[in-house]
Amino acid sequence: MANLNNSGEREQWGSKIGFILAAAGSAVGLGNLWKFPYMAGKNGGGAFVLVYFIILFLVGFTLMLAEIVLGRYTQLNAIGAYRKIGKKWAFVGALGVLAGFLILSFYSVVGGWVIAYLVKTLTGALNVTDAEVLGNMFGKLISGTTEPIFYHALFMVATFLIVLGGIGGGIEKSSKILMPGLFVMIIVLAIRSMTLPGAVEGIKYLLVPDFSKINIDVVLDALGQVFFSLSLGMGCMITYGSYLSKDSNIPESAVTIPLIDTGVALLAGLAVLPAVFAFGFEPSAGPGLIFITFPAVFAQMPFGTLFEIMFFILVLFAALSSSISLLEVCVAYVVDEWKMNRKVATVSLAFVIFLLGIPASLSFGPWAHITLLPGKGFFDTFDFISSNILLPLGGLLLCIVVGWIWGTDNAIKEATNEGQLEFKFAPFWAFLVKYVGPVAIGIVFIRSLLG
Ligand code: PFF
Repeated sequence: MANLNNSGEREQWGSKIGFILAAAGSAVGLGNLWKFPYMAGKNGGGAFVLVYFIILFLVGFTLMLAEIVLGRYTQLNAIGAYRKIGKKWAFVGALGVLAGFLILSFYSVVGGWVIAYLVKTLTGALNVTDAEVLGNMFGKLISGTTEPIFYHALFMVATFLIVLGGIGGGIEKSSKILMPGLFVMIIVLAIRSMTLPGAVEGIKYLLVPDFSKINIDVVLDALGQVFFSLSLGMGCMITYGSYLSKDSNIPESAVTIPLIDTGVALLAGLAVLPAVFAFGFEPSAGPGLIFITFPAVFAQMPFGTLFEIMFFILVLFAALSSSISLLEVCVAYVVDEWKMNRKVATVSLAFVIFLLGIPASLSFGPWAHITLLPGKGFFDTFDFISSNILLPLGGLLLCIVVGWIWGTDNAIKEATNEGQLEFKFAPFWAFLVKYVGPVAIGIVFIRSLLG
């Protein structure tokens, strides 16, 4: 077993800030920078943001704490953790590992696009302001065959190389350097975007809700997005929590991580949507939004190319600090449970996930005509099944296991380090896990199944 260090103990985070940055690194990623702006654009802007916030407050913080506590208590991977609470619940962890597998396959395709854009920036190919040219350039990249798959492979290789480095050396170290850089960069971009002529419309679009736009699809998308963005519902925070030492402050982390994540998502929205309006793009343009608007913004900035290079490097690192957590969920499971060598597990899982990503990539090009779910090709189907079904389902079952099977008293005892830490909201949290979480997630689910 190699989730152990040289003296035979389970590996641990090197410091408190190391864990927070690694967990925030997992949360902050393409979900914030790429998915949040286009989901908001697609779902009516402010209406989506409002629903997102409600779900964040009701279940986001709650489940973050539940996952971390479960991980630290059991010191095990997602499946092992559920099994320790009760044998028959191991399947919840298995659903999570499956979700991680699926998410990483298409996540890596988008990560590949980021590398491709970094290369385009370096070669000067992106120095264009014309929306149509930028749109065509993006379309050409993703609908190709070898080019996007090549970049997808590169992204997967980068991911497994970091994971091979282990917990403290690979994951923690890289997050510590990259996260602060990303904050600065996204703030600079949001300011530039919001000061473009005509940007006010975009700010309004993102922040002023139009209640008539709220429907069950918007709610289901927002629910899926909260889970996806916070890395919840698939045992990722259980796995990261399992590397925490017993004196860590979980309640504090469970508030800090979602706050950082939401801050970055909002800033990304403020960096993208005002520019969308200023340049006359369509907010509902979909997955290409950041790849089309950002180059246009950069092309209009002094030292634009320099900023653009920095930006795509940071997006790439944000994506990697998330993809490594997705891979780590699968690796931790195989290493803990199958006693596989950590290196062998990492490389073989990465390879299988790479293969699964190929149809996801091709579904933008030669395989665009193949649909798995109505109107959805491989990429959209993987995204829908994982984000909108597996993660919320995992969250619902997490509430049941922590709230009712393990019990909130036990969970609070662990969260407060046996009563040594103050956790003022403990009773409120218990209420949210036991009742609000399951009921809210359950209702959204059933309503969306009924159509
Ligand atoms: N939270 C990541 C993002 O927003 O990009 C994606 C992700 C990572 C989802 C890890 C789930 C997960 F377990």
